[in-house]
Parts: sequence; structure tokens; C-alpha cells
Amino acid sequence: MKLGVIGCGKMGSALVEGAIRSGALNPEQVTGCDASPEAAKAFAAATGAHIVDTIGALEADTYLLCTKPQHAEAALGWLPDASSLVISVAAGLTTSWIEARVPGSVRVIRCMPNTPALVGQGAAAFCRGKGATSTDAEAAQLLLGSVGLAVELPESLMNAVTGLSGSGPAFVYIMIEAMADGGVLAGLPRAEALKLAAQTVLGAATMVLETNQHPGALKDMVASPGGTTIAGLAELEKRGMRAAFIEAVQTASRRSAELGGS
Ligand SMILES: NC(=O)c1ccc[n+]([C@@H]2O[C@H](COP(=O)([O-])OP(=O)(O)OC[C@H]3O[C@@H](n4cnc5c(N)ncnc54)[C@H](OP(=O)(O)O)[C@@H]3O)[C@@H](O)[C@H]2O)c1
Repeated sequence: MKLGVIGCGKMGSALVEGAIRSGALNPEQVTGCDASPEAAKAFAAATGAHIVDTIGALEADTYLLCTKPQHAEAALGWLPDASSLVISVAAGLTTSWIEARVPGSVRVIRCMPNTPALVGQGAAAFCRGKGATSTDAEAAQLLLGSVGLAVELPESLMNAVTGLSGSGPAFVYIMIEAMADGGVLAGLPRAEALKLAAQTVLGAATMVLETNQHPGALKDMVASPGGTTIAGLAELEKRGMRAAFIEAVQTASRRSAELGGS
């Protein structure tokens, strides 16, 4: 693969750094281009990749579109009129929207990463546009998989992905903050309460992913009869915590659809 990165900001750098770190790509395979010379220089320093001044100068068979969505149209117009693959992480831009804006017979993969990709712990989904092949899907899996989990889904589910793993980190951040507040109320120092709350979320998530046990079964394992955990769980159920999370994901997914994704 010869990868041309359009937009070398936070997400573009995170994906390329992850792919190089994991050995999926070597820096010689990557060329970057950014509207901001500072961002381009920082990208070159972090990845060892070559940078060029214009999108037209990128030598690539695969383009990674990492500009903000509102800058994508201008960037796509500069792509050469040749058969190529565009892997886009621009939130909300559909594969057909991108296909219509690139000259030639482009193949498109649309991705929805999330911010923990910046620390190598992303949860992402991607979908194929018309004409994108299984080899193209493997290329997306390679890039996204180097900074976390990546799953392929139909495009009709991308709003649901946005509501769950796209918006989800913010839901978990307020949960961590609230749990730490509870710890402070119970007498813990703030810094320790925050670390204990964050590590508890990380540890519980790792248990779900690594044991393959249903979260309900893991919950039952720590809720002993008449104990502390079941008392806390009863309080959460009384206050509708489960319904609040379900509604939060559903409302965020609906909002994603309203904003123009599909
Ligand atoms: N950050 C995340 O966690 C996250 C999560 C999910 C999805 N995404 C998606 O990832 C994309 C990038 O987000 P980001 O946070 O990485 O943004 P970012 O840090 O602002 O990076 C985007 C870069 O693209 C540059 N750019 C703009 N127009 C360009 C053009 N025509 N040619 C080349 N470079 C151009 C920008 O330069 P200027 O600053 O000079 O405009 C900027 O350096 C967005 O579409 C976003 O929806 C990001």
C-alpha cells in the first residue's frame, strides 16, 4: 500500500503512528499533506513519513481522508482522476457523498473512529461504499486495528455506531467523574478517587473483553448476598441508570441521523 494522508492532525497522526508502531506500515509507504505547515512538520517528525505541499503531489494508491468534515469537499476535488481507494474518517460523510466528489472510479471506505484511538484504545466501525472490495476492507482494518478495535458493519448502522462508541467516551467520562465524586464524599482524596474510578472502568471493560463472560454474569460474581455491591446496584436501578444509558445512546444515534449521516 502507498498511503497518502490528507490532513495530518490528531486522527491522521494517531492512525499512521499506530500503523507504523504495530509494523502494519513502514514510513516509506506514507506521504502526508496538511493545510497547516506546522501540523505537517509535526506529523513528519512523529511518523518519519515524507510530507508534500499539495494533495496533487501525494504519491498514493490509497488516500486517508482526515480533514474536518467541512474541509473534505475542497480536499477531495484535488485527488487525481485515477482508480484509487479513499478511507475517510470524516464524521457523518457518507460513502455516496464522497464518491460523488472524487473524479474517476474511486472506491470508498467510511470509518467512525473514536477519541481513545489517540491513545491506542479506539473502538471503531467501518463500512464499504459501492465497489469497495474485501482487500479495501482489509486496508481499513489494518489502519483502525492498529489503534484499537475495528469492526465492519453496513453503512445503515453508522449512526448507531456514532451514538454508541463515537459519543460513548463522553458518557463514560461523566461516569468516572461521578464515581470519583462518590469516593470523595466517602472520604477519599480527589486524586486517588479519580485514579481508582478510571482504573475500575478500565479493569471492568478488560474483564468483559478478555473473559468473554456476559457483563450480567460478571456483575453477579461481585454481588454477594446482603453485601455492599448489591446495595449500590439497587440504588442505581432505583435511579434508572440502565434506562439513562440506553436512552443516551439512542438519542445520540438519532441526533447523528438528524445531522446528516446515514
Ligand atoms: N479526533 C477524534 O477523536 C475523532 C474521532 C472521530 C472522528 N474524527 C474525524 O477525524 C477527522 C479529523 O479530526 P482531527 O481531530 O484529527 O482534526 P484536526 O486535528 O483538526 O486535523 C485536521 C487537519 O486537516 C487539515 N486540513 C484542512 N483542510 C485540508 C486540506 N484541504 N488539505 C490538507 N489538510 C487539510 C487541518 O489544517 P487546518 O487546521 O489548517 O485547517 C488540520 O491540520 C474529522 O473529520 C473528524 O470528524 C476525529
